[in-house]
Amino acid sequence: MKKGLLALGIAALLATGCKQTGNTEEDRFIESLLSQMTLEEKIGQMNQLSFDQPLDSIKAKIRAGEIGSMLNIDPTLINEIQKTAVEESRLGIPLIIGRDIIHGYKTVLPIPLGLAASFDPQLVEAGTHMAATEAREEGITWTFAPMLDISRDARWGRIAESLGEDSYLSGELGAAMVRGFQGKQLSDNDAIAACVKHFVGYGAAEGGRDYNSTYIPEMLLRNVYLPPFQKAIEAGAATLMTSFNDNNGVPASGNDFLLRTVLRNEWNFDGFVVSDWCSMSEMIPHGFAADRKDVARISANAGVDMEMVSQTYIDHLPELVTEKKVPIETIDEAVRNILRIKYRLGLFENPYVDDVEEGMSTIYSDEHLQTARRAAVESAVLLKNNGVLPLKPGQTLAIIGPMANAPHDQLGTWSFDGDKNRTVTPLKALQSEEYKQVKYLYEAGLDYSRDTDTRNFERVKSAVRRADVALVFVGEEAILSGEAHSLSNINLIGAQSELLKAVKSTGKPVVMVVIAGRPLTIERDLPYADAILYNFHPGTMGGLAILDLLYGKENPSGKLPVTFVREVGQIPMYYNHNNTGRPAHNQIIPLKDIPLEAPQTSLGNTSFYLDSGKDPLFVFGYGLSYSTFEYTDLNLSNHEPKAGDTLTVTATIKNTSRVDGTEVAQLYVRDLVGSITRPVKELKGFQRLFIKAGESQTVTFELPISELAFYGRDLQKRVEAGQFDLWVGPNSAEGLKGSFTVTE
Ligand code: BGC
Repeated sequence: MKKGLLALGIAALLATGCKQTGNTEEDRFIESLLSQMTLEEKIGQMNQLSFDQPLDSIKAKIRAGEIGSMLNIDPTLINEIQKTAVEESRLGIPLIIGRDIIHGYKTVLPIPLGLAASFDPQLVEAGTHMAATEAREEGITWTFAPMLDISRDARWGRIAESLGEDSYLSGELGAAMVRGFQGKQLSDNDAIAACVKHFVGYGAAEGGRDYNSTYIPEMLLRNVYLPPFQKAIEAGAATLMTSFNDNNGVPASGNDFLLRTVLRNEWNFDGFVVSDWCSMSEMIPHGFAADRKDVARISANAGVDMEMVSQTYIDHLPELVTEKKVPIETIDEAVRNILRIKYRLGLFENPYVDDVEEGMSTIYSDEHLQTARRAAVESAVLLKNNGVLPLKPGQTLAIIGPMANAPHDQLGTWSFDGDKNRTVTPLKALQSEEYKQVKYLYEAGLDYSRDTDTRNFERVKSAVRRADVALVFVGEEAILSGEAHSLSNINLIGAQSELLKAVKSTGKPVVMVVIAGRPLTIERDLPYADAILYNFHPGTMGGLAILDLLYGKENPSGKLPVTFVREVGQIPMYYNHNNTGRPAHNQIIPLKDIPLEAPQTSLGNTSFYLDSGKDPLFVFGYGLSYSTFEYTDLNLSNHEPKAGDTLTVTATIKNTSRVDGTEVAQLYVRDLVGSITRPVKELKGFQRLFIKAGESQTVTFELPISELAFYGRDLQKRVEAGQFDLWVGPNSAEGLKGSFTVTE
């Protein structure tokens, strides 16, 4: 409902359509508005500020038409500043209000890496739609998500925000997120504009150190890093954010090849591009721009439509246009792109957020809490189980460890709006109606994940001795992952490994429950755990979800979206690598077993680490269930398909256990000989199948042969004829194997 008067110019425009240069009503509206704008007003639209100045000074700028968007604003002030834009600026152009709604707004979902472990696009779409509904209810119209940076390095703190290491999975889930955020149409009151980020290559930061340079050749960029972005753009993403890194020496906010050639010309993107926070002015320390004026010139010409925070546009574009260093057509195009999204969001018609009637808020609604709980259930990955799980009713539990009751940390990175008082930790879940009959003793042992004080370990052991089974909640605080929170050591931090050992020394069964922002190196901890349930920071409802899983009320179904390395020194290690000319067969060689003065070639000249072998700890796609599944009867519809064909691949999956369960069946292929070396496996499909105990189901994958295309040395995308292997299985290392030959 419209609450204020729109400035006259826009009201008239909406009523009449005015000057008609484009084809659609939207085009006509935008062209008319553009024709009324001064150069300064146009540049104002390209300026985004954070709410870190006094309200009066922000309002003065908005009134003067100097701001097109705000981020980080207190939601209770949104109508007030929008009123200034709509009713007090000359043209009354509404602001677009952005915020980092990364994995939920107030009701917090698992971090994106956790959501990715669900391999469940429908759930991911429902979860992001939940976030959009809550956010729009408070007037937020734009989120800076999804983050689609492929990440093969667990040191990088932002792996938490990623959808893992695989392009296909990231693309499928990224598109689901776009659909979830943007709903049926952007103007609906349960939709917000998505922003795919960070374009591009940011996750390949050298050494996993945030903001660091990347070196990704165009072929790899096109085969691995760009596809998830393309899928999200095809799903209709309204906006895109440039990244901080320089790739091959060119910072993303100054890269016209990425922003014009790829994004606009090849992908026909018609939304707008925003820089990352000061990523434009950071081209000065990068040594790519001489000064702030140079920054504005480079970014505008490269195709950044809106500048986040650093304000070089507002300061320098007017003179750059006068000097003809930035063509006015470039400015007009940027403004069109921005106005287009504002128009689609319905902001010109309805700039304000309505008051929500008592009891009508969707925030923390039962439905949303249930969605968050389901997401946390599906995001957990069972890594080990020697039979201690599921827990049996009547067992007395020892609840141990710093993450058993860490309401803030369980929410994970980028949870600005989640209220930790609403977090259901595992300890709190034990006090809920559903679990209050469980008998337990609680002894944290360590106060927080970095804690090294072992003085309470004797009390811990005494509690464990009085219990039937110990649940040890370990992991990472939220602050240890996320932006600028990279680590060079990703073992369990503090005295958590010692805590596990102490618990194990009692002889009682130990369930290790990890709550962390990244795949930690936990090989040294495995011997001290009879079962391991891994949760990437699971959000508001994590505690209940964890108990549901531990008690077998829910059956674990999550699969790893990222490789778990044994040692940090193995990084980067990812499932879809190319083969070397000397693939290793060797396993780890205990260094002490190497004879003195051993001959140079005695250990085999193959590609592996003497001390940690060639294999990771847990492979991509891995995850256990309380059920067991058997794959048989692989069938391919055609063993000699042509490039235009679609291959139908089927297999039978039997639940050979006595427990109903969900299996994520995965389809991988390998192109055996190519004009360039090709990955040893590539994910091309996945499906979640609920299979009742003792029953079988047929999984069917439709694989268009065109999906096997890749960019070769000439940077053309094509399918190459020849032989392919194919697997259908439970993870990237196992499965039924078939083969086919693509014919000319
Ligand atoms: C991050 C972005 C984020 C932006 C706005 C930057 O530091 O890199 O991902 O959306 O801040 O908060």
